[in-house]
This record gives sequence, structure tokens and C-alpha cells, in this order.
Amino acid sequence: MPARGAEHEHLIDRAEQLMGGSPGAFKLPAEHAIVIERGIGSKVYDVDGNEYIDYLMGSGPMLIGHAHPQVVEAVQHQAARGSTFYTLTKQSIELAERLVEAIPCADSVKYVSSGTEATFHAMRIARTYTGKPKILKFEGGFHGVNDYSLMSSMASRPTEYPRPIPDSAGIPGEIEADVLVSRWNDSALTAEILAEYGDQIAAVICEPLQRALIAAPGFLQDLRDMTSKHNVLLIFDEIVTGFRLAYGGAQERYGVIPDMATYGKAMAGGYPLAAVAGRREIMDVTRPERRGSSPVAHLGGTMNGNPLASSAGLATLNVLSGDGVYDQLYDTANKLKDGLRAIADESEEQVRIIGEGPVFQIFFTETAPSDYPGVLQTDRARSRQFGLNLIKRGFYLNPGEKFYISLAHDQGDVDTTLVAAREAMMELSGVAKTVASN
Ligand SMILES: Cc1ncc(COP(=O)(O)O)c(C=O)c1O
Repeated sequence: MPARGAEHEHLIDRAEQLMGGSPGAFKLPAEHAIVIERGIGSKVYDVDGNEYIDYLMGSGPMLIGHAHPQVVEAVQHQAARGSTFYTLTKQSIELAERLVEAIPCADSVKYVSSGTEATFHAMRIARTYTGKPKILKFEGGFHGVNDYSLMSSMASRPTEYPRPIPDSAGIPGEIEADVLVSRWNDSALTAEILAEYGDQIAAVICEPLQRALIAAPGFLQDLRDMTSKHNVLLIFDEIVTGFRLAYGGAQERYGVIPDMATYGKAMAGGYPLAAVAGRREIMDVTRPERRGSSPVAHLGGTMNGNPLASSAGLATLNVLSGDGVYDQLYDTANKLKDGLRAIADESEEQVRIIGEGPVFQIFFTETAPSDYPGVLQTDRARSRQFGLNLIKRGFYLNPGEKFYISLAHDQGDVDTTLVAAREAMMELSGVAKTVASN
């Protein structure tokens, strides 16, 4: 573990006292905790100046790298002109234009500040448009931390479909009753649930790449067909996949077009901005002038579409729309995945690396999982330990969870990572110990 100085130790101690050890939910064990001071490109630096190759990348937003010069310039330019006005700005209009051009299902967009709000509002819009109360989601699918989303997304046991397992205390039972859960990649079960409850379901929401679990061939198209048949809206939560799997996100990559989609993370290059996108007649239920006798879906937020985050978003999309960007992202990720697979093959470990392009996850298991019960059967403690072994070798990541590759990661990062990954794997298998004691 890179050395921590006295100030670093003190800050970690203060964080524990003041905010339970982390600003949100992500918390490393005390001995691995790191206070970050700055990030540039593919690296972050702690308050002692130690460098880490970053595979957390802000949990996804930093797809073009930390402090990208074009984003920094755009934000500095706007910061000197005011950061928020609660009304129209040129930047938010231009960004909306870019989003509608890029996103196959979008005629219209609405801004919010976080992914949690985006999925919350997408579900509310769907209920308003269809006049139906329930939402169907998938076990293991994560859609942020609003009360509807925190259902069967991270339970420690399999769900008894379609009844959800709430992921948090404090969620009203009435909301639980309005969320149904199906199994990822199970078209037959999803069809059964839709046949039984379709007249009460407003929308099916899914991550088109569920965490790292790729949709089985035909599954997304099945969802498209089944939802259309039952007059249920299909929402793709593209908060991870948007602008990452392709410029047009998972919709472009997989060729299935939902009714609505949610965006965040990469879209705003590291600034707080997210969006709901969809077909015009659906999004129009948010228009106050259409109120008439029935209320519209209210979608507010003080910082929505602020020009600072919109400027960062525009600069990021400019970079992402450049030539060869996605080839580079996939190529770097493939080199890393191939190298990690070779290391796993040399070791005594059973390892499966799954995901799509620049998002992947390492599972310790004989059989690659294709749904959440499959994930629960993998050796998650081993996967987490492998991640912790990397952290102490100067890498920054969410141990046991996804790796995020950015445009800033290069061959040097891949080579350095593979050397450390071989050691981390040996340590895990106890090979290092055996070698040392021989
Ligand atoms: C697929 C998906 N949806 C929604 C969210 C929530 O986004 P936010 O953290 O901006 O609220 C996340 C966050 O990780 C996510 O991965």
C-alpha cells in the first residue's frame, strides 16, 4: 500500500467521524482508504502525492479522462460568466440538440442533476403517459437510489419473482407494492409477468448491459416486442452505457430502440448533469401548458441544465464524436482483458471476465454468470480481495466491481496493470507465500 502520511491518516479519521467514512455509499476498508487530491488523464493522486492508475474513473463519468483540457477550458470559460441561472442558456440548448442527434429514441430531453433523479422522473413520466401504476425491473439491475429503484438490485439472496426485495430500510411499503421484478435474460418469465400484470405496468426499465451482464441474443428485442404488445413503455437506463458502448449508446450498439432512456455519468464529463430522453408524445406529458384538466408529470430541479455542467457535456461530446474514439476505447479494454485472462489461465484460479467494451468485471467462477442468481454464486469475496490486492499496488478501483476504461488509458497503463495483476493473482492464490517460503 502506498505510504500514508500523518495528514492523510488524520483526514481519514475525520471522514470517519464526520461522514461515516465516505461522502456516499462507496467506502474502502480503513486500511485501504485513500484521500484523493487530484486527477489527470488515467491517474489520480492522493494527498501524499502517491499516483494510482484509476479504473474507478469517478464511477464512470470520466470516460475521456480526468481534467481533460477541452473540458477544463470550457468550464473555466463558463465559470467566469456565472454557473447557474435556472432558465434557458445557449449551452443547455446546444447540448439538448447534440443529445437528440445522438440518441436514437430521443425527440426531446429534460435535464436533471443525477442518474437517480433521471430514472425517478422517467418512471413518473411513464406512469403519467400510460395511466398505469407499476414498474417492472430486473433483479440485479441498478437504477440509482430512489425508492422505486432500490428493489432487488443488490440483495444477498435471489428474488422470489415478481415480488421485490427492498435494498434499503425506509422505503414505504406502498412503493414496494408497485415494483415487480423479473430475472435478467429470462424472456419466458418476463412474458409471464407482463401477461399477468401488463394492464397495471407503466414501464419496464432495464440497464441494456446489466452491470457487466450482457443481454442474451434476442433478449432486448424480446423486451421491445413484449412491451409494445402490452402497451408498456420500455426504458433503457443508459446512465452507464450512454456514449460509452457507442456514441449512440446501447441503443446503437445493440440495435434496439426503447421508448425512453436515461443518461448521466459520461454525458457531462464529470459534472453533475443527467437527462431523461424519449419520444415526443411521451416527453410532452411534462409540458405545463398541456395541463388542461389532468396534471402533468412535474420535473423540476434548481440546477437542471446549468450552463457549467452543460459546457462540460458539450466539450465531452465533442471529444467523443472524434474519429476512432470508440475503436481506441474497445482496443485498450480488449488488451487489458486479454492480458488478465492470460494471467488467470496461468494461475490456479477459475476466472471469467465479462462485460462490453470499456466496461468489464472480473468474476471468480467456473461459469460466467448471465443473471443475478448466477452472480450470487460466484466467489465475490475472492473478486473483492483481488481488487484490494490491486489497490495496495497503486491502482484505484471499486474492488470486486466494474472496471471503467477511459480514452486516457494507454498501452503503458495496460502493461503496468498486467504486471501488478499477475502479482495480485499470485498473492490471492497463496502462490506468493509458497514461493517466499521455499
Ligand atoms: C445504471 C445506473 N443508473 C442510475 C445510476 C444512478 O446515477 P447517480 O449516481 O448519478 O444518481 C447509476 C449509478 O451508478 C447507474 O449505474
